[in-house]
Amino acid sequence: MKNAKIILDKDYIIGRIDPRLYGSFIEHLGRAVYGGIYEPGHPMADEQGFRKDVLEKVRDLGVSVVRYPGGNFVSGFNWEDSVGPNRPKRLDLAWFTTESNAVGLHEFADWTKKADTELMYAINLGTRGPENARDIVEYANHPGGSKFSDMRIANGARDPFGIKLWCLGNEMDGPWQMGHKTALEYGRIANESAKMMKWVDPSIELVACGSSSSEMPTFGSWELTMLDECYDNIDYVSLHRYYGNPTNDTPGFLARSMDLDDFIHTVVAICDAVKGKKHSRKQINLSFDEWNVWYHSNEQDKEIWKREKWGPALPLLEDVYNFEDALLAGSILITFLKNADRVKIACLAQLVNVIAPIMTRNGGGCWAQTIYWPFYHASRYGRGTALKALVDSPVYGCADYDDVPLIDATATLGDDGSVTVFCVNRDLTEDFLLDIDLRAFGDLQLKEHIMLHHSDVKAVNTEENPDNVAPTAGPGGTIDNGKAQIRVPALSWNVLRFVPSAAN
Ligand code: AHR
Repeated sequence: MKNAKIILDKDYIIGRIDPRLYGSFIEHLGRAVYGGIYEPGHPMADEQGFRKDVLEKVRDLGVSVVRYPGGNFVSGFNWEDSVGPNRPKRLDLAWFTTESNAVGLHEFADWTKKADTELMYAINLGTRGPENARDIVEYANHPGGSKFSDMRIANGARDPFGIKLWCLGNEMDGPWQMGHKTALEYGRIANESAKMMKWVDPSIELVACGSSSSEMPTFGSWELTMLDECYDNIDYVSLHRYYGNPTNDTPGFLARSMDLDDFIHTVVAICDAVKGKKHSRKQINLSFDEWNVWYHSNEQDKEIWKREKWGPALPLLEDVYNFEDALLAGSILITFLKNADRVKIACLAQLVNVIAPIMTRNGGGCWAQTIYWPFYHASRYGRGTALKALVDSPVYGCADYDDVPLIDATATLGDDGSVTVFCVNRDLTEDFLLDIDLRAFGDLQLKEHIMLHHSDVKAVNTEENPDNVAPTAGPGGTIDNGKAQIRVPALSWNVLRFVPSAAN
C-alpha cells in the first residue's frame, strides 16, 4: 500500500462552481435524436414521442444545460426547416445522412423542460451569417409583435423560449466544417452577429468558437486573432477535446487530463492577454462545450458510410465505453473543478447513443455506459464551492509526462457544510492510504465512500449486462478529530462524502 496526503481548508477556495459545469450535448447526428431521445411508437414513448426511460436517466444525471442542435451539423443547418408545419428533408453534409427535421426547436425546447435542463442553442455561422443570427434570437426570445416572434406564436409557442446561452457557430477553425473560416474572418462575423443578437436580447450570453482541439496547428493564434475582433461582445470562449487510447497505453491514457489542464491554462492566458491589450475590465471565461473519450467507433463508422451513405439516423459514433474510459472521465471532471474559477460551462459530448453515457436500442432498452458514473457523482455531489486541495502524491512517468500524480484528487464544499473528495487512483496495482486533513471544517463524519472499480480495464456495460461496471461501496476508513484515513484501491474512481456530524 502506498501513501498520499490531501490538505483541505475552508478558506482555501478556487471559486463557486457554476452549475453549467455539468452540461451535455445533443446533436442531430446518428441516433442521438432519432432512436435516442425521440422514438415515437416505442413502448416507453410519451405523447410527443420522447422516450421516458431516456428522460429518467438524463434527469438522474442532473444535466444542467444541453447544447443543441450541433456540432458540425449546425454549420449547414437552416433553423427555419425545423419549425412550423412544413419540415423539408435535407441532406446533412456534416454526417452524410438525411435529416427529417421531425424534431426541431419547439420539440427540443419541450424535451429540455421534461429533462429538467436548460437549452444552449448553437447558431449556424458556417453557411449563414449575422442576419440569420439576429432572426433566430428574435424568433426564440422576443415576446411578439415582429415577423419572427409572431411566427413562433403561430407555430404554437405563445411564450418566448428565453434561451440564455448561445454558441456563435461550431469549430469554425476546422477545415471539415461547412463554411470553415480563418480566425480573422470568423472573428469579424462572430462580432457582427454577437452585436445584433444582443441588440435583440441584451440578456443573452454568447460563446465564441475557440480551437476545436489543442492539437490544431492554428491553436493559440486562432484565439488571439478572433478575440481581438470580438472580445467586447462575447462572454465565453469554447474549447473542445476528445481523447483515445488506440495504442493501449493505460498509464499514458489516464494522464491525458494533464493535457486538458494545460489547454485550459493556455486559453485563460490568451483571454487575459487580449484583455490586457484592450485595457478592458471585462473577463472572458471558458465554455468547454465538447469533451469526452472518442475513438472506439472510428473504424465502424467508415464501414457504415461505405454501406449506407445518406441513410436516416445511421448508428454513428456509438463508442462502447470501458472502465478505463470512466477513470479518465473522472479525471477530466476533477480538472474542471480545479479550474472552476474560469471554466463556467462544460458539456459532456454527447448525451445519448453518440459518444454517450446513455445508450438505447431501437425498440429496446436503455442503459448507462461506464462514463455515466463519474458524471453522475460529480454532478450530484460536486456542487457549491470548489476547494483548492493540496495533494501530495507520488508520481509516475509516461510518454507525454514525467510527473503524473498517481492520486488525482480535488474537493468541493457543499452549501450544507459537507465536503466531498473526488479521487482517481491511477496506480495499476497498488492501493493507496489517503491521509486527509479536514480539521478546518469542524466535526465531520464519513457518510459514504462510493467507488467505481473493475478488475478488467476493458470491461464494458451492455444491454444484457448493464451493471458490469457500476458503483459499489468503497473500503472507507476512519476519521478522528478531522483527520481521515481512507483506502482507495488500485485503478479506481472514488467519491468520499464527509458531512457535519449532526447531519449524519
Ligand atoms: O461531437 C461530435 C463532433 O465532434 C461534433 O459535431 C463536432 O463539433 C466535433 O468535431
